[in-house]
Formats: sequence, structure tokens, C-alpha cells
Amino acid sequence: MARLPDAFIDDLLARSDIVEIVGSRVPLKRKGREYTAPCPFHDERTPSFYVSPTKQFYHCFGCGAHGTAISFLMNYDRLEFLDAVEELARRAGMELPKDTRAGPQDNDLRDQYAALEAAARLFQRHLAESQRARDYLDSRGVDADTRARFAIGYAPDGYSTLKDTLGTDERRLKLLERTGMLSRNERGHVYDKFRDRVMFPIHDRRGRVIAFGGRVLDKDASPKYLNSPETPLFHKGRELYGLWQAKQANQKLERLVVVEGYMDVVTLFQFGVTQGVATLGTATTADHAELLFRNAPDVYFCFDGDAAGRRAAWRAVESVLPRMKDGRQAFFLFLPDGEDPDTIVRKEGATGFDARLAQATPLSQFFFDELGRDTNRNTLDGRARLAERARPLLAQLPDGAFADLMRQELQRQTGVGAAAPATAPEPQRAPSRRVGAPAQKRSLVRSMIALLLQQPSLGLQLQPPYPFAELRLPGMPLLLELLDVVHQRPEISTGALLEHFADHEQGEALRKLAAQSLPGDENSWAHELQDAAAQLEKQTLQQRIDELQQKQRSQGLDETDKYELRMLLQALSSLRG
Ligand code: UTP
Ligand code: MN
Repeated sequence: MARLPDAFIDDLLARSDIVEIVGSRVPLKRKGREYTAPCPFHDERTPSFYVSPTKQFYHCFGCGAHGTAISFLMNYDRLEFLDAVEELARRAGMELPKDTRAGPQDNDLRDQYAALEAAARLFQRHLAESQRARDYLDSRGVDADTRARFAIGYAPDGYSTLKDTLGTDERRLKLLERTGMLSRNERGHVYDKFRDRVMFPIHDRRGRVIAFGGRVLDKDASPKYLNSPETPLFHKGRELYGLWQAKQANQKLERLVVVEGYMDVVTLFQFGVTQGVATLGTATTADHAELLFRNAPDVYFCFDGDAAGRRAAWRAVESVLPRMKDGRQAFFLFLPDGEDPDTIVRKEGATGFDARLAQATPLSQFFFDELGRDTNRNTLDGRARLAERARPLLAQLPDGAFADLMRQELQRQTGVGAAAPATAPEPQRAPSRRVGAPAQKRSLVRSMIALLLQQPSLGLQLQPPYPFAELRLPGMPLLLELLDVVHQRPEISTGALLEHFADHEQGEALRKLAAQSLPGDENSWAHELQDAAAQLEKQTLQQRIDELQQKQRSQGLDETDKYELRMLLQALSSLRG
């Protein structure tokens, strides 16, 4: 990857408001100069997560998570570096410098996205041309708007439509193969994977096509649905079909409705339930649960009412339990035999479907119903069994009101407590930091570093060559490096400065220092920095004087040495003046 210029990143961070970025995802409370919240990166009750608008970085005193707006998006929204940068740039109305994605690796991925996009368009064209495929979609009641919105297409029969159209040379052929669009038989012959199927492109969070699901037209053909294999772009356990469309259609997603099939998502949408998403022929994974709750506080899982549906629902329970932070809710909806959301919403409309959702079983109830299914709560044995099964599961709940209620409920139903797991008191941390060691007690070098971290632009007051550069003190090389960076990147924020030093052996120490809130304000800090620099200058003169005097004793001074010593003593006394 061609590196983005530092100046661009600095400018980008300067024009982004980390409080707004974090605040739109995590509820922040103002606290002095900073904002705080329960840490989104680990489970906790008392907030130890701080966001600093002046330093433009976040920091958790509990788990150590930290970084800039860019790293926040990378960690919270799970974006790649460039995607996070692009997202911020888009918000700030900035253009990415050209050639940013120039590395061979990125070129290849970019080409894969392009190939899949081209495939989706090709399938759409073939749908327009195939009476049979259009008839099929008509018979399924999918209207033109919906076809367009979900970019539904058709892969014609025959073994090489896609291969011949898009795989026109060896490089393109290889590329198509990497995207999972081609199959290869034992004799090494390569052919179209999807043939005579209605094609549902699967979009990623940013609306790029990353895979396909294809449905047969003939009801007897099998498999009914064929999905793209796992590829560099597509990991089915991490993607949700329809999430892109749901996000496009809803300003703010209040809920997501998880259904089983492509057609369910599409039909729900067409009938006005625009929050449907489907896992792609897999059980709900932990990654799915995370993705769901990151996008909406309420998640409804719809399943068939049969035994298989209940088993699938239980898998969903297991995946959401560790993610049930306060403010999140999960519900379970079981459909009548032989129905799926596609058929229900056609019969009952959005209103009918919504009414069913309103009656859905809350997680807490489903949890205890399901666990106690084959135990008799009237016997001591049965209750003990229930408690035993529940305990390890409840232990996975993050701290919070929901966990408390679930434990109370277990107690109520069984008479046995859930023995709230490991209630080891959280280590005391937040309070001590604010007291901090008074600046005077720290070494001068350290306090200068602390000031620079507090507000990097203060470093611009000091002009190179720094009169203290020769001083042999611990931390001096680091201080000089910091000053260098600040002079090269005058706009740099604390967050970006820390990022620059992330791999430095002192990176961790810098981060801790930066997390402190220094007393005083910009003015007093500026003075402090000047004072410290002046002190160090004196110490530098003294260091050289000591050296010369040492030499005088051991071997005597020549004329130049004597002259230098005189000048140094003069300078020192004038500084002390
Ligand atoms: P269903 O067989 O319930 O399909 O599979 P459906 O969504 O109701 O399909 P229609 O209405 O007949 O078109 C539900 C989901 O399971 C996955 C697909 O994601 C499908 O949408 N599936 C099913 C497969 O991946 N492969 C299959 O062969 C069948
Ligand atoms: Mn169906």
C-alpha cells in the first residue's frame, strides 16, 4: 500500500471530531475536559473509558484500549485502516490522495471487488434478457424496485457465460477464480459455478459485492441455494445478507430482524419491513451477534417453530449472551409450521408481521423455558439441574442490570443463586490518575514530554537547534524525537502523535503519560515548557563546563578549550542573571 502522507492523516484527524465519532456509537458523558463511558471494548460497570476532544484520542484505563478516531473506527466498526480513513474523509468532505491503494496486494483486492461488481451487472443484464428468469421472479412476487435495490440477477445456463465474458485473459480468469465465481473439475477444467440460477449479490458493510447466493428456478433441482465459497473478500460467518440495504433504508436502525433466507429478507423489504437480515446458510456466529448489536439495539431472531428452529434459536442465544450489555435486547419469534417470513408478510403485511414481533419471546424467557424444557421444576432435583445448566451460561453475561435480573430470575425459579461469577472488585484505577505526581517532582525531560503530549503544538515554541540537545539525560533522545515530529507535522494531535510512536519502545509509556490530565491551561503549559527548556539549557552548559574542568585537571586545556570555557561561564551567569 502506498502510505498515506502523514500530513493528510493529521489534517484528517484535525477535521474530524473524535467525540462525535465515538459519541454516535457509544453514549458519552461529559466529565471535565473529557468525555467518559463504560468501555465499549471490555465489559465493565464503572466507566473507565475516556475520550479527549483536545487530544483527539480515546483511552481506557481498564483494558488499555486507546487510539485516534481512525483506530476507533478500526476497532469498533471493524474497518481496515484505509476504510476507516475513507469513512472519516467522507464525513469531513476530504478527498483521499491519489494512488493510495497502489500496492500489489490492494490492487488485487480492488480487482476482485471490480470483478464481482461486473459479475453482478452481467447477471442483471441476463435477467433482463431471460423471460424464464423474469417469470420466476414474477411468480415469487418480487417487484421491479426490489429487484433493483437488491441487484437481483440471473446466471444463465451453460458452463461459460461468466467465464467467457469476464475471464478474457489468463489474469482475469485467475481473478475470477479467486472470487469464487468459477469451479474446477478433477481434470483442471474451469467453468461457471453458478448456472441457471437467480442471483442474489451479497454486499459488505460498504455496499460492495463480495459474494453471491444463487437459487434454482426448478423446484426439483438441488441444491436449492448455492453460495459463494469463502474467499479473501467473503467470510460467511461475518456477513449478513441485507445489512447494507437495511442501513441504506434506515437513518437509524432501531432493530434488526434476523431471518433464515434471502427471499425472506427481500420480501420483508418489499412489504415495508426494511430491517431484515439473513445469516448465510449458517448458524448465528459470535461475529454475527456482534455485528447485529453494533448496528441496532434490538435484535429479533425469527425461526421455524419446529425442533430444528428451536435448536437454531438456541445457537443464537449462545452467541448473544456474552454481548447482552445494558441497552441491548434480543427477542425470539417462532413461526407457524410451514410458514416463513416471506409467506407471512405476504399474507399479513408489515402490520401483521410487526404485531408478531411485538409478541416475540424475550431472551430471558426463552432462556429459562428452553433450559427447563425437560426438567421438572416441582422437584428439588429438577431445580438443581436447571440451576446447574444456567450457571455457566449466566456467567457469560456482561455486568449490568440484565445480568442481575437473570440471576434473580434463576434464584426465583430454582431457589438456587447463580453465584455471581468472580465478583473480584475491579482494580482501583481511575481516581489515582487525576492526582498524579506533581509536575515539579518529575524530571524536567519527563515533564516536557508530558506537556508535548498534552498539546503537541506547544513544541513549536522551541526552535531547533535545541540548546539542550547535547544533554545526556534519560529521555532526551525521545524528547528530541517528539519535537522533531511536531515540527514536521505542526497540525499533529496527541492521538496521531501516539500513533506515530506506537511501535516505539517507549510507546506504552508515552500513552500512559498522555492519558493524564495536566493541571493548568494552555498558557501555563506554555510557560512551563519554556521554563523547563531554559533549565535544561543551563544544565547543558553545566555539563560542558564540567567536562572541560575535568579535562583541565587530567590533561590541561588548550587555547580553544579555555576560550570555550570562558564563554560558557559567561553564558551561564547571564542565564542565571
Ligand atoms: P429455505 O429452504 O428455507 O429457503 O432455506 P427459503 O429462503 O424459504 O427459500 P425459498 O423461499 O424457497 O426461495 C433458507 C436459507 O437457507 C440457506 C439459504 O440461505 C436459504 O435462503 N440454504 C437453503 C442454503 O444455503 N442452501 C440450500 O440448499 C438451502
Ligand atoms: Mn421461503
